[in-house]
Amino acid sequence: MNEPIEGSLVRLAPFATRHRDDPAYLGWLRDHDVIRTLNLPGYMAKPVSVEDVRSYCDRVMRSASERFFAIERKAEGDFVGTLKVGSINSHTSTADIGIMIGRRDLWGRGLAQDAIAAICRRLFRTEGFRRLTAGAMAINPGMIRVFEKLGFQREGCFRQHDRLGDEYIDHIHLGCLAEEFAG
Ligand SMILES: CC(C)(COP(=O)(O)OP(=O)(O)OC[C@H]1O[C@@H](n2cnc3c(N)ncnc32)[C@H](O)[C@@H]1OP(=O)(O)O)[C@@H](O)C(=O)NCCC(=O)NCCS
Repeated sequence: MNEPIEGSLVRLAPFATRHRDDPAYLGWLRDHDVIRTLNLPGYMAKPVSVEDVRSYCDRVMRSASERFFAIERKAEGDFVGTLKVGSINSHTSTADIGIMIGRRDLWGRGLAQDAIAAICRRLFRTEGFRRLTAGAMAINPGMIRVFEKLGFQREGCFRQHDRLGDEYIDHIHLGCLAEEFAG
């Protein structure tokens, strides 16, 4: 379980204290361009503190219903983002996937798609998950596109469910059954 999960471009390493304490990680969580689509109003209002990041990471690293990964590029070995498998339900064999590529300079190079494909392969094909879900703000078409390319279907639009500043924004809910996965 502690072995990294290998994609083609990235590997998913269990998130560890070295990731938590990496100043780059704090920088991503304070970068409005990175966090604006993450529904984190507190982080948008004022720079998140080192203590808050530490306690969030420590909670999620210990959680039984969540699995938290650092996304590392295989060629360079650097830490570039995080991926979380949340809402793990062993009764229904379902879970929810969320991702952040913190390095904005690396957006658009297929890292998110590679990371999500890798976790889906693991969850569907090795661990027997039946259904995976994800959600994205409607102003995040790149995220929606990645999930759709991997076989996720748009299952719902929660109208004006999200908020960014003074604007209310639709939330797109996506789901993928094991047999629909295209990665
Ligand atoms: C969303 C995010 C994960 C995407 O990561 P990424 O590594 O750039 O994604 P990829 O390169 O794998 O794929 C992006 C795809 O979206 C497409 N895309 C990007 N902007 C787009 C836009 N405005 N409209 C339509 N498609 C768009 C890209 O062309 C690419 O598709 P392609 O490979 O078919 O050309 C990254 O931008 C991020 O972490 N953002 C901040 C945090 C966040 O929003 N996380 C998701 C919360 S639900």
